[in-house]
Amino acid sequence: MTDWTDGYITEIDYTHGYYQELNPLRIRLLFLNLGLAFPETASVCELGFGQGLSANIHAAAQANGQLWATDFNPSQVSFAQSLAAASGANAQLFDQSFSDFCRRDDLPDFDYIGLHGIWSWISDESRAVIVDFIRRKLKVGGVLYLSYNALPGWAAFAPIRHLMTEYSEIMGVKGQGVLNGLDAALAFTDKLLATNPLYARANPQVNERVKKLAEQNRNYLAHEYFNRNWEPMHFATIANWLMPAKLNYACSAHYLDHVSAMNLTADQQAFLQEIPDVLFRETARDFMVNQQFRRDYWIKGARRINSIEQIEGLRNMRVILMLHRADVSLKAAGALGECTMDIGVYHPVLDVLADHTPKTLAQIELAVKDKGVSFAQVVQAILVLTGTVKLQQYRMNP
Ligand SMILES: C[S@@+](CC[C@H](N)C(=O)[O-])C[C@H]1O[C@@H](n2cnc3c(N)ncnc32)[C@H](O)[C@@H]1O
Repeated sequence: MTDWTDGYITEIDYTHGYYQELNPLRIRLLFLNLGLAFPETASVCELGFGQGLSANIHAAAQANGQLWATDFNPSQVSFAQSLAAASGANAQLFDQSFSDFCRRDDLPDFDYIGLHGIWSWISDESRAVIVDFIRRKLKVGGVLYLSYNALPGWAAFAPIRHLMTEYSEIMGVKGQGVLNGLDAALAFTDKLLATNPLYARANPQVNERVKKLAEQNRNYLAHEYFNRNWEPMHFATIANWLMPAKLNYACSAHYLDHVSAMNLTADQQAFLQEIPDVLFRETARDFMVNQQFRRDYWIKGARRINSIEQIEGLRNMRVILMLHRADVSLKAAGALGECTMDIGVYHPVLDVLADHTPKTLAQIELAVKDKGVSFAQVVQAILVLTGTVKLQQYRMNP
């Protein structure tokens, strides 16, 4: 019998999560803010959609678009297809492996290809299949969203993952199931750390991080730690992998990364500004924030727009407030810790949005002008609010 799992955990399902970074419509604000042209995202592809919550929500939000996606776990695909049937969205959801799906000859060319939580957990062979697919099927001007476990953030903790999978392999009881195996490996790790090994003394944050593991969703943990393949990478390694697909690095897909003051000290910002090479600057920045998980947009042929197009595009962007005005928290966390937003800027902006009707940034600009809030501050406020809104929803509905 051929093993279709390729060493990936399929015995237990992945969590039912929604990942906003996968949303093709989200690239607009970021790209406009950076002065970059962005594609209309009419044809979208997601590789490894898990339970398909994100894929279905995005397909439903693209009235005239089409979404093609695959995940080789049939239980998850069954759930995802039931959502698509209920919504009637144009979502073509398959249970094919990456290599089978990427070889199909009936796929359109894509404006946008997204992979969330895939890259670090698959084999080099699958990565090569995916890069070749992007090279062939991503349109010129199209965008790739890619997330992955990054270095240096995983450097200290990677040996714990090694220890747990080795324990499972060598000491684990055959037939006990992935979740029991996970519990046993965690218990063994606890005992080992309780002996105060030199490793833990050299990496004092490890004890705390192992404790936090016990509090996390066990299905998530099994998928994060117990696959055959698990490889955190440096940003430059990813850039090398993507080179054959002719991709340029565009920006982080995590909105709050775009607010330097939340993530970098003044010294760090000045240090990074001295680095002319965009890619090497990212490498250095990853040390500043001890980057553990990167979420990035890459583009096939980056093109700058002029400042008139940029301002026009931003002014025409429409946003809507999804939470009750009173439920919006004015706190946000970056690499430097939690910070509180300036009420002089955020209160007037939120007041304009409080009726939950869509507003262009131009309308907001006009409405808050008398309060001394500039257009640049409106753009920044919308970026930060968009970047934190999902976290805020989670806080309300844990
Ligand atoms: C960590 S989950 C992420 C799921 C989803 N992107 C999310 O973020 O919720 C990885 C997914 O990739 C799928 N997968 C792993 N290897 C695959 C392969 N070779 N072909 C197709 N799907 C694969 C798994 O079934 C799993 O659902």
